[in-house]
Amino acid sequence: MALEGHKKIETNATLLLTLSFLVVTVGGIVEIAPLFYLENTIEDVEGMRPYAPLELAGREIYIREGCYVCHSQMIRPMRDEVERYGHYSLAAESQYDHPFQWGSKRTGPDLARVGGRYSDEWHVDHFTNPQSVVPESVMPAYAYLADSVLQPTYIVDLMQTHRMVGVPYTDAMLENAASDFIQQATDFGDGGVVERYPGAQQRDFDGQPEVTEMDALIAYMQMLGTLVDFSTFAPEQALASR
Ligand code: HEC
Repeated sequence: MALEGHKKIETNATLLLTLSFLVVTVGGIVEIAPLFYLENTIEDVEGMRPYAPLELAGREIYIREGCYVCHSQMIRPMRDEVERYGHYSLAAESQYDHPFQWGSKRTGPDLARVGGRYSDEWHVDHFTNPQSVVPESVMPAYAYLADSVLQPTYIVDLMQTHRMVGVPYTDAMLENAASDFIQQATDFGDGGVVERYPGAQQRDFDGQPEVTEMDALIAYMQMLGTLVDFSTFAPEQALASR
């Protein structure tokens, strides 16, 4: 009997389409509607902050060079991933990423927690000639980044654009953007950059006096995944504080 009824649906294209449409609509509403009643779909996590100007510039270079074509930035909550890369990625960790860099291809390893894994010198050697440190590597060389001096010409525009889409850059951050940019890549300065961006690492990343694209990219690499302190992070707490 039931099969007979189904035959009617399957042999009538209009009826099949109408019923399929209904099923998909109901299913869609059930999945999507509850999201409108949540105040926030991203839990706030302590330690997350907007990118410091130099890190943001490094992130732009990451996007420009297409690093996402070979690298992901999302550790999935599965045992093999967590053992290799560290704590699985939280939504909050990419909350200030426009556009996000989760990626879908891993010719190289995931980079979500690469910060602090290697020294700055290692990164300089690796970007200059990847095969000099990992002989079997298929990663291309990016030696020219060290020759390209970077001025903070567009950094305020870039930060303002990010502010437009919801990144909480303050007026003080915008006013100090250019000096924070230079300060983070040099050994001098009043430490204001660390005050405005807690956890920011301030040093000469590429070993050259000028601020180069290499400095910016390494500053970005070295901060990836370092902002949240996972020894104190408990997912239930973050849920409870919502
Ligand atoms: C053609 C693919 C490809 C591209 C493009 C690429 N990489 Fe890689 N990357 C790899 C591979 C493969 C490895 C692993 C071998 C090695 O360490 O060189 C790697 C390793 C790395 C590592 C070390 C990660 C670890 O945990 O050991 C970093 C950091 C890195 N890449 C950054 C970058 C950045 C930044 C860019 C863009 C400027 C980039 N890669 C572009 C393929 C790529």
